[in-house]
Amino acid sequence: METQEKKRVIIESLEKDMKEVHSSRECQDLKVKYLGKKGLVTELTANMKDLSNEERKEVGQISNEVKNEVTEKITQLENHWKEEELNQKLEKERLDLSLPSKKFKRGSLHPFQRIIDDVEDFFVSMGYDVIDGPELETDENCFQRLNVPIGHPARDTQDTFYIDAEYLLRTQTSSTQARVMQANTEKTPIRMICPGKVYRRDDDATHSHQFGQVEGLVIDQNISLADLKGTLELFAKKMLGEDTKVRFRPSFFPFTEPSVEVDVTCFKCGGKGCPLCKQTGWIEVLGAGVVHPNVLRMGGYDPEVWTGFAFGTGLDRFAMFRYEIPDIRYLYTNDIRFLEQFDRKDEENEIK
Ligand code: DAH
Repeated sequence: METQEKKRVIIESLEKDMKEVHSSRECQDLKVKYLGKKGLVTELTANMKDLSNEERKEVGQISNEVKNEVTEKITQLENHWKEEELNQKLEKERLDLSLPSKKFKRGSLHPFQRIIDDVEDFFVSMGYDVIDGPELETDENCFQRLNVPIGHPARDTQDTFYIDAEYLLRTQTSSTQARVMQANTEKTPIRMICPGKVYRRDDDATHSHQFGQVEGLVIDQNISLADLKGTLELFAKKMLGEDTKVRFRPSFFPFTEPSVEVDVTCFKCGGKGCPLCKQTGWIEVLGAGVVHPNVLRMGGYDPEVWTGFAFGTGLDRFAMFRYEIPDIRYLYTNDIRFLEQFDRKDEENEIK
């Protein structure tokens, strides 16, 4: 066959083969088939040595042309497929920015801390200091300086964890009253609250051996029960809602005289009566009263000059009411399933 004819056959065959190619990998196979050592193009020059000079020149020239043409065609095709493959890869690996992101667990404030924050906000806005008292207390500060001498029957109501004859785990934040009065050596007016943990030997659904209280103490001149009532009314409205009403019932605490127990209208039913308030319309939230002259005297304040009021409230009760928590022990066992709800609950109730 004439070399020109062979060239035509090779190019035709290549063009046919090219139609069957669907990847850059297959272009490599084409290269081998046409340009490889035993390839069709290479074969053109296989028996050059048997040719005359003249023929050799012609065959050499033509086979060069074929080689160039074939190389160019295959390279073009290869580039086409490489680009195609790259596009496919990019398409496959594309980031979908509209996909929802991974959910990260985030911490949130403990219900107890939320209540403390609200209580502190309120009293700080009224000019009170926030005082931190120790949980390991002396019998003197926890009882004696609060007008509960050794052997006093009121000690029976607070089952105490004693460390030794002198030290105990405080049963009430009232112990900070004694501390603050002693520490204030200038004997200037006092406005303070003390939120913190207290301990008693109790353990059931509504009592924990550890719970939270906030103590309040105001000492100044001409302080009366009316000031206490005004303060607690504002406090109750802030904590439980604007429509909340406050009721004082006479009571007894050794460190106040007169003493009162303070009820608020049930924030669930607004005072109509419901299971939460046991159909009474009222919920007891606080103990309070006018500071007993003995307590003032032991704190270094002359009861002829100074008067004051004090109050103490259980933080757990507020948390249990506000968040409808059935068992006080949930507050202390740190179960994530329980704690997780609180972000949602505050949003739902729109408390603040
Ligand atoms: N300490 C009392 C208790 O734990 C509560 C209390 C009552 C505190 C009257 C006071 C108060 O400051 O005046 O039950």
